[in-house]
Amino acid sequence: MKGLILAGGTGSRLRPLTYTGAKQLLPVGNRPILFYAVDDMVRAGVTDIGVVVGETAPLIEAALGDGTQFECHFTYIPQEAPLGLAHAVKISQLFLGTDPFLMVLGDNLLRGGVAPLVQRFQQQHPAAAVLLTQIEDPRQFGVAVVEAGRVVRLVEKPEHPPSNLALVGAYCFDARIHEAVSSLRPSGRGELEITDAIQWLVDHNEPVDAAEVTGWWKDTGRPEDVLDANRLILDDLKSQNDGSVDADSQLTGRVAVATGAIIEHSTIRGPATIGEGAVIIDSYIGPYTSIGPRVHLRSVEIELSVVLPDSRLENIGERIDQSLIGQGVDVRGRQGRPKTVRLVLGDHSRIEI
Ligand code: TTP
Repeated sequence: MKGLILAGGTGSRLRPLTYTGAKQLLPVGNRPILFYAVDDMVRAGVTDIGVVVGETAPLIEAALGDGTQFECHFTYIPQEAPLGLAHAVKISQLFLGTDPFLMVLGDNLLRGGVAPLVQRFQQQHPAAAVLLTQIEDPRQFGVAVVEAGRVVRLVEKPEHPPSNLALVGAYCFDARIHEAVSSLRPSGRGELEITDAIQWLVDHNEPVDAAEVTGWWKDTGRPEDVLDANRLILDDLKSQNDGSVDADSQLTGRVAVATGAIIEHSTIRGPATIGEGAVIIDSYIGPYTSIGPRVHLRSVEIELSVVLPDSRLENIGERIDQSLIGQGVDVRGRQGRPKTVRLVLGDHSRIEI
């Protein structure tokens, strides 16, 4: 069985972070979101993996390499524009051949993994197997109607959802999907939709199995989703201290401190993770926070947040809460009166003062 990871797309909902980076590489628990998808695939026994890449191809390729670090092999498949999930399958036909394959979205996180889906697919041999999860308001998702474990109807982002079962970003297909995909026309939003391809299978009496997610599933399309994902990942964090923590500092709960990190006169309440070479001085780091490699914090209080590598925050008067801070960002508090705010913000920045 082959694997297909979708790591193209535009990531418009995560601007400005996605102007300079790939959304699949945003870190949660100080690891790119994409790495968890790769781990899941390898754990399910899938090691020959195609990675669909778009504009951010150089970044994705630099992060994943040839696959040696994950004990798998990657083939990169360039997509000229994000023309839909089914378009990604279409351009991958040469790599996939007639093999069955597992497809996952590179910006989705699954707790519980994809192994149960793969197992079910390999035992039952349907044309496709999809993962579903119950969502209160599934209007932003592909929605499925299921009868006796089989999908009987699918609709993409319906105004009036026929059920509350949303499609999660993991699918198994056999070669029958290629005929479905080649018969598709672009949808109203101009994309070749994977839901339409699966509906094509249903319409042609090909069996489509449905399984419900065990554990949790998180799509990381928006900044608040990245913070949620970070929280969920840190729930499984193990304590580790490879850095240097002075006697005036206190670490409570599960805290992971990477090599070369320095913590002085600070309090860290886990679960929290501190990246390689980070420097934390006179600061408080609260639960569910990931501080990236080489970040410098001085006189800062921060919690429920993610700070990307090489940023510097100093003398911030207020506690930073539920924030997603990009790479190489510089934030300094100003002492003295009158209290003013000086800003140099890129396009599409979002701040609350
Ligand atoms: P989406 O989140 O649906 O799309 P997007 O990345 O364009 O984001 P936004 O809506 O914020 O602009 O994509 C889900 C995943 O699939 C994501 O990892 C990107 C990837 N993808 C492709 O590789 N090719 C495509 O044609 C599309 C639509 C998505």
